[in-house]
Amino acid sequence: MISKNLTPEQQRIVETVAGKVRRVLNKEDPSHDWPHVRRVQNMAVFIGERENADIFVIVLAALLHDVGDWKLYRGDETVGPRLARQILNTVDVPTETVTHVCEIIATMSFKGAGVESRMTTLEGKVVQDADRLDALGAIGIARCFSYGGHKGRPIHDSSRPPVFHQTKESYLQESTSINHFYEKLLLLADLMNTETGRTIARERHRLMEGYLKKFHLEWEGLDAIHILGVLDSLNIT
Ligand code: NI
Repeated sequence: MISKNLTPEQQRIVETVAGKVRRVLNKEDPSHDWPHVRRVQNMAVFIGERENADIFVIVLAALLHDVGDWKLYRGDETVGPRLARQILNTVDVPTETVTHVCEIIATMSFKGAGVESRMTTLEGKVVQDADRLDALGAIGIARCFSYGGHKGRPIHDSSRPPVFHQTKESYLQESTSINHFYEKLLLLADLMNTETGRTIARERHRLMEGYLKKFHLEWEGLDAIHILGVLDSLNIT
């Protein structure tokens, strides 16, 4: 059972939609695949129950939020809501629920540090937080390098400083995986909509900061000097 707040009829609809989404997402890269959608759905339900939001809307929006991700369709933002509507039209969902879910999906994506995308409903805020939380922490790190590999990006290039993107076109240009942390991932904790989301984000944010510190040390080979220095001073080597 996904949530005790869904009726048996709603549970059935959710399972049907999940089956269709799973088939569509089979071809995606591992950072936007079915396990990502499942994690976002579970996190959205967790936050939504604490924030007293409409769980049916949340579950449907979470399931459908990446079926037509604009980043994977050369920046076309209309593909996602259109595919979502097509899938929802095959099940018995009230029109206002379809409209609400499609509105959420149209507003969801991060399009660059200086590009605003504001959610208006509580359900939208919850699903956006859940999606952003999956870009943070240990999973966030794994997804960042997986997406970078999928796009053929270098892991790091110390001669290329991170860019604070003002438009979604500039955000879509090539970068490195490490720059992606500074251009997007480390900005997300401050953009959380809900108190629950913010609390979880802070913890995951700290993990990434620690990871990056270590990454740069290893990149420059400085950790080796430090480790051997400590062992030398303890007379272990
Ligand atoms: Ni997503």
